[in-house]
Amino acid sequence: MESRYAKLKEDWLLKGWTDVPWTIVNWKSGDYHRLNQDGFYVAQSCDGRTDFGSLAFLPKHITILNRFIDQGIAEECKAGESVQSVQEYRLAKNTLIKGIHWAVTGRCNLKCRHCYMDAPSGQLGELTDGELEIVLNYLVEANITSVSLTGGEPFMNKNLLGLIGRLSEKKIRLVDIYTNGTLISDTILQELRAMHVQPIFRISFDGCGAHDQMRGTPGIEAKVLRAISKIRSAGFGVSVTTSIDKTNIHSLMTTYEKMKELDIYAWGVGRPQPVGCGRGITTGLPLEEMALSCINLLQRWFEDGRPFMIGWRLSIQIAKTVLLARHPRRPRT
Ligand SMILES: C[S@@+](CC[C@H](N)C(=O)[O-])C[C@H]1O[C@@H](n2cnc3c(N)ncnc32)[C@H](O)[C@@H]1O
Ligand code: SF4
Repeated sequence: MESRYAKLKEDWLLKGWTDVPWTIVNWKSGDYHRLNQDGFYVAQSCDGRTDFGSLAFLPKHITILNRFIDQGIAEECKAGESVQSVQEYRLAKNTLIKGIHWAVTGRCNLKCRHCYMDAPSGQLGELTDGELEIVLNYLVEANITSVSLTGGEPFMNKNLLGLIGRLSEKKIRLVDIYTNGTLISDTILQELRAMHVQPIFRISFDGCGAHDQMRGTPGIEAKVLRAISKIRSAGFGVSVTTSIDKTNIHSLMTTYEKMKELDIYAWGVGRPQPVGCGRGITTGLPLEEMALSCINLLQRWFEDGRPFMIGWRLSIQIAKTVLLARHPRRPRT
């Protein structure tokens, strides 16, 4: 049979874990396929050196190879071409962990009343560049393929862009950055574009006319709204997270209208949990009150044709609370 060679396209990596031994992952898009033994045999042979024309490959293997080529996972190549070493199969000693949240600093420039990270006192501190590199090497060892960066305020870390560059070098996808938005400059956005990374910005915004008070810092509401517009103009996706309690629930509908203007792709609303600085806060919102606000808002959202995705933390309890109120238990006879 005629010789035939193929190699994995450069964004595809072969990875395995103790519970899921054979997968192929696209580190840029997050696409991920579990492989069976035949699929893995073919994928591992897409190395530019193995001859698919040899007797070692049966028709069923050639069918799989053709499918990989059709799906853009592999491509035909000349004999002797090679894949990068990072694409070659690596089996981690742990079970599958697709992604992690990495708090790259415990420090922050704001003083949110509810911060579960205790960031206003900075008591969790910050890792040095060397320590961050050690953590990065652990991620590589554990075959982590995607990371969300958070903090504290991640942009307080002066070497954040350097760290993002290192993630790309290791072919770990930066999915999103959780940020208060106040430290994001045009230069940062330009540098991210130049690095060809496309994270979603998950920005905290606690409500029109309410944000400064929730975040303990006067004058930042306008700054965050400007940052969201700037990030959208630079072509990055924005998802907004709003923490609500008794002090800002009144602003929910106005904030919803603002979100429509800002062209975000998702909005999440939730009650702060009693953790860190959030412990001992006395302005927590009763579930019933939150449920009613959600119902009113969802009504408007449906009427508007669902302009963005919407998520309510505790939505199951909310639905249950509302439904229980509407359908009280019938007395047993
Ligand atoms: C800890 S912050 C880190 C990222 C960034 N500094 C920010 O505020 O967006 C991540 C998210 O957790 C939310 N958060 C903080 N304390 C919380 C709490 N006690 N319960 C629920 N969410 C909380 C913040 O409002 C923010 O949306
Ligand atoms: S919630 Fe975010 S912005 Fe607020 S203090 Fe905590 S880390 Fe900083």
